[in-house]
Parts: sequence; C-alpha cells; structure tokens
Amino acid sequence: MSMELDAAPPEESAVAEDGVWLECIETGEQYAPFDEIRYRSDAGGLLEVRYADLPDFDDFAERGSAGRRAQSDDPSSRGVWRYADALPVDREVTIDEGDTPLYEVPRLEEELGVESLRVKHEGMNPTGSFKDRGMTVGVGVARRLGVERLACASTGNTSAALAAYGARAGMETLVLLPAGKVAAGKVAQASLHGARILEVDDNFDTCLDIVQELADRGEAYLLNSLNPFRLEGQKTIGLEILEAFRDDYGRFPDRIVLPVGNAGNTAALFKAFRELVTAGALEVDQVPKLTGVQAEGAAPMVEAIEEGREGIERWETVATRATAIRIGNPVNAPKAIPAIRETGGTAVAVSDVEITDAQRSLAEEGVGVEPASAASVAGLRKLREEGVVGSEEDVVCLTTGHLLKDPDAAAAAGADPEPVAGDTDAVLEHLAE
Ligand code: F0G
Repeated sequence: MSMELDAAPPEESAVAEDGVWLECIETGEQYAPFDEIRYRSDAGGLLEVRYADLPDFDDFAERGSAGRRAQSDDPSSRGVWRYADALPVDREVTIDEGDTPLYEVPRLEEELGVESLRVKHEGMNPTGSFKDRGMTVGVGVARRLGVERLACASTGNTSAALAAYGARAGMETLVLLPAGKVAAGKVAQASLHGARILEVDDNFDTCLDIVQELADRGEAYLLNSLNPFRLEGQKTIGLEILEAFRDDYGRFPDRIVLPVGNAGNTAALFKAFRELVTAGALEVDQVPKLTGVQAEGAAPMVEAIEEGREGIERWETVATRATAIRIGNPVNAPKAIPAIRETGGTAVAVSDVEITDAQRSLAEEGVGVEPASAASVAGLRKLREEGVVGSEEDVVCLTTGHLLKDPDAAAAAGADPEPVAGDTDAVLEHLAE
C-alpha cells in the first residue's frame, strides 16, 4: 500500500453512479459497491472504498474548531457528516456522532515529558464509543442495499452501536458475543436497543468466523470492521484530530497512539491520511506515526510488527481485563500492518496492570475511559520509558470507549465506597478517622 492512492480509473462497469467503487487492496480488482453484497474480493483480499472524485479537502485548513462552532446550527455540517463529500452514502441514519473532544491533559503531558499531549476521547460519542462513526455510514449503506438483518460479532461496543443504529433505521439486528467476556454496560445497551443477543461459548474470533459464514450464506449483512464502509466513517477520527490539533498548535501531531483489537481504526486512520496526501492537503512527511497498542495477552499485531512479518499469526488463547481488545485474529491486519510501517510508527504490548494505571491517570484528569482505551496511554508511557517516543514529539492518544461501558473495571480500579451510619455526627467522625 503506498501513501498515495493510485488514480487508476475504475472499469466503467464497476463505477456506481455517484463515483464510488470497492477495490481489493491485494489485487486491485474493482467492484460496484451497491449492486451486490461483498466483503472481500474474489481473491479473498480486503476491500477499500474508492472515490472517482476524491474531495480536494481545500477547506481542510479552515474547517477546524472555529469553523465547527460557526456551523454548528446545521446538523449536516457537524461531526462525521461534515465530511460527507468523502463518504460513500448520504446522511440518513444518524444520532449525531463525531465532533468528540481533543482534551488537554496537562499533568499527564508533564509526567510523560512530551512536547504536547492531547486525548481524543471517542467515548463521547452517542453510544459511548467510536463505533458510532462506522455505524452511521455502515447502516446507511445497509439501508441502501435493502438488506433485512444486520449482524456483528463483538467484544461489546460494536454490538451496542449496531443495536442503536439498527433501531434508528428500524432494522433487525443480531449480535454474537463471547459469553462472559463482555462488559456489563455494553450488553445492557445492545439489549435495550433491541438487538437479538447470542452468547457464544467461545471467544470473539470464533464469533466473527460464525458471523462471516452467516453473511456468506446471505443470512445477514455483516457490520464488523471487515466491512469497508464502516471504516469510511471511522476515518473521520483522523480528519478531526488533524484539524483540531492544527487549530490549537498550528501544526499536525507527530504521532497518534491507539488501542488495537481488530485493527479497524489503524486501517481507517491510514486511509484518511492517504486521502489527504493524494488530495495534496497533507505532505507525506506530515503524516502522523500510527502507533498501535495491544494487551500482552492478546498481541498478535505487536508480534507481527516486532518480527517484521507481513501477516499475523492467529492467537487461539487470549486473555486481558481490557475485554474490548481481547482479540487473537485482527481481521484488518493486512491494512493495519502497512499503516504502522509506512507511517514510521510501531506497536507495543502492555500488561493489565499498566492499563489500569493509565486508566487511573486519565481519571485523575477527569477523563473517564474503559480499560481498552487506557491502553493507548499505557503504551505511550512504555514507549517514552524505552526512549522510542522522543520528548520533542506532539502526541495524540486515542481513547476509544467511555468509563461507564465497563463499570466493574472502573470500580475495581477506583477506591471502595465506605459504609457509614445515616447521621451527620457519624459522618464527621468517620471523616476524622
Ligand atoms: N477500543 C475499544 C473500546 C473497542 O471496543 C475496540 C474494538 C477497540 C479499541 C479496538 O479497535 O478493532 O478498530 O482495532 N471493539 C470491537 C467490538 C472489536 O466488537 O466492539 P479496532
């Protein structure tokens, strides 16, 4: 994969009316996006959404936070849909996703000793994770395709988002979850939004194998990040980070650190940068270094990067308290490995203890995240200690999900409530102890 998207004109037959097509990242095979349902090329490669008229991102420089505020009365120019000209469908199925904060974290910045540190908190999306950005586009495509049933495998957040967006679109949703390995908040969301929830007595990777088979047999439309349309929505994370960072600092960040599970975001951010480079809105040497973080007990991407391999080897056994990234077979690895290599980034594994420490550090700044999200900060901390990340770097950490997604993990990481009698003197005595 090169930094510039090649401009090969698509075969006439493959181009949809609106100039959108699907292209295999391995073979370059092209397909019409809305005539048939497909998730891979005939050769089995991952697909990428391509545009005949890629926007020139002319107003990229002026569309930052000041512009956002000025435009905020118009819902179509907010959040994900502010980038409608770089998306494959129109804004139809939406609950106002995107435009998440890029928080300052001065104490962490000081402790980690980098030039600047910001936290892009994707937990501030409608269902509490970045998945909403993918679903507003993916469910929109599903509606255009006229499918009846939506499905996903999930470590939790995808199922919560799919259930909400499916409900919004009035469509039937089916989610397959690894039994006992999904945080309480996420199951509650999927349940209340009306998804049919199947608890599979196996891990996430097996759930995804099953959903892929259901999709191949025409039983459901798959909305995991293997679906290239979802990643189009998620690429707006990268666009927002670059715009907001430049608004505040007058330059782009050197590095973006993010948790890696199925590696969809890593792939999506790289796609955003390649589109900007192709459009001439970003120089190749301005592309932030994509730096992926996995939990030690589920780190096949880190293994592949460290060993210089082209592909990952599936881990059959995975274990981490950060259940959102408890994944042994990241399906987007063929997109994400080049993303990390070509941007000059790296990948690192962190322990559950390091993840919990980072979750506490973020909480001390008022930023509440779930464990998987804290992996980004834990990874940055480790890479600073190892000297891989330099003190002169401008860094953005991506936090992917809200603290309330996993109340049990939050309560375990925080202090225990103290029992006290219902009496003011008793309260004062207790406080004096
Ligand atoms: N952080 C959170 C909170 C997640 O829920 C996920 C993925 C990731 C990070 C990893 O992102 O897959 O793009 O590398 N959760 C999926 C799910 C697998 O089913 O909710 P990725």
